[in-house]
Amino acid sequence: MKILITGGAGFIGSHIAEAFHRLGWDVTILDNFTTGKRENLAGLTRTRENPFGKATGGEKSSEIAKSEENLAGLTSKRENPSEKETGGENLSEIATGRGNLSGIAGKVEIIEGDIRDKTAVAKAAAGCDVVVHLAALASVPASFRNPEETYEVNFMGTQNVLEAALQNNVKIVTFASSSAVYGDTDRLPIGEETPANPLSPYGLSKLLSEKLCRFHNTVYGLPVVVFRFFNVYGERQNPFSEYSAVIPKFINIIQNGGTPTIFGDGEQTRDFIYISDLVHAHLLAVEGALKLQPAKSVKPATNTSKSSAAYEATPLNLGSGEKTSLNQLVKIMSQIAGKEIKPQYAPPRSGDILHSFCKIDKIFDEIGFKPQTPMILGIEKMFNSRNFEN
Ligand code: NAD
Ligand code: UD1
Repeated sequence: MKILITGGAGFIGSHIAEAFHRLGWDVTILDNFTTGKRENLAGLTRTRENPFGKATGGEKSSEIAKSEENLAGLTSKRENPSEKETGGENLSEIATGRGNLSGIAGKVEIIEGDIRDKTAVAKAAAGCDVVVHLAALASVPASFRNPEETYEVNFMGTQNVLEAALQNNVKIVTFASSSAVYGDTDRLPIGEETPANPLSPYGLSKLLSEKLCRFHNTVYGLPVVVFRFFNVYGERQNPFSEYSAVIPKFINIIQNGGTPTIFGDGEQTRDFIYISDLVHAHLLAVEGALKLQPAKSVKPATNTSKSSAAYEATPLNLGSGEKTSLNQLVKIMSQIAGKEIKPQYAPPRSGDILHSFCKIDKIFDEIGFKPQTPMILGIEKMFNSRNFEN
């Protein structure tokens, strides 16, 4: 099986790439490295000849590497005699290390290219069974500074990806939408039926892209899962940019003895979801799509007898279902750091949503997803990761 991951060199994309690679899939990554990094893919591009895992940085267009080292987590499981049973496991369990099967390492192809470039997208999508579309300009404040580019990349880029997916009869596309489509709402927790009123060019670009997804499903029968990600956090999330997400940014500041700044009074809330949970949701979605369409050719989703709304681009909230205020977040970090962290406060950020946490019953009903990782555990893992040591 072959998967194209746009934005695969980014924070989320690199984790999804690893999961599918563990399954033995051929993984193609299309990324222009705006925010993505080759180091994020080091685990994928290690070769047997290069056991110390140097990333294959430097090469310009297309790189192919075969890897077995990043199967370590899976193969070590095989050593446990009590876990030798291999029957009845799901893709998602295998790839997240919750199962026992070891995949055979597939090919990894990293294409440096832009999703605005139709030719690059078509080349990357050739022969793919699945497309995970993540490439985007992902910062809310940056989208105010550069709305035009945000629309070009996030909207027109999505058009190119969907078109290429269609041409390749892929079995499923997943699209990374955002809770930012909702804007401010007093209907909390946020259900998918809540009217979308984005408050930033970024949020609007995602809403418009959702419509593109739905259009491609309704008119051309392309199976698409639209995930509305809430605030995702985890290892490899870049803490160093002015646009960095709050969790890696604060951890980095705290580890360097600094004082984090909260924009506003800190009572704004977010729904933070840990990366491995988000990866799991993608695996479940792909698994479900493959069950619906085991045959080589793609049937229009609208015509399949076992079709589900999830594959017809009706949005699914992908969050933890828990709300955490920024003040609570700093308390959690104090607990992990073992010292009281006193933040400083600055005026609220323009376009900042006040409250954002979601209902997660639809995603459970549709694809069986339930988050597993409590925040204290996920954040502790980040504190302990080597990510921030530089
Ligand atoms: P990221 O910035 O780490 O990843 C985005 C990737 O897209 C990067 O590797 C970047 O280089 C690439 N990219 C940007 N423009 C491109 C272009 N024109 N052509 C090709 N590649 C391009 O961000 P992330 O947090 O991993 O986000 C991944 C996706 O999830 C994005 O679509 C984002 O909007 C969405 N999302 C993220 C969050 C979150 O909390 N991290 C929440 C909601 C939605
Ligand atoms: C984030 C994502 C966005 C995604 C959205 C979905 C990033 C960079 N942005 O946006 O792609 O669509 O979630 O919900 O991953 N804050 C501070 N101090 C700081 C930084 C942030 O107080 O130094 C506050 C912000 O004002 C905001 C909250 O923390 O209230 C979260 O901010 P941030 O992590 O940037 O994420 P979102 O803007 O919610």
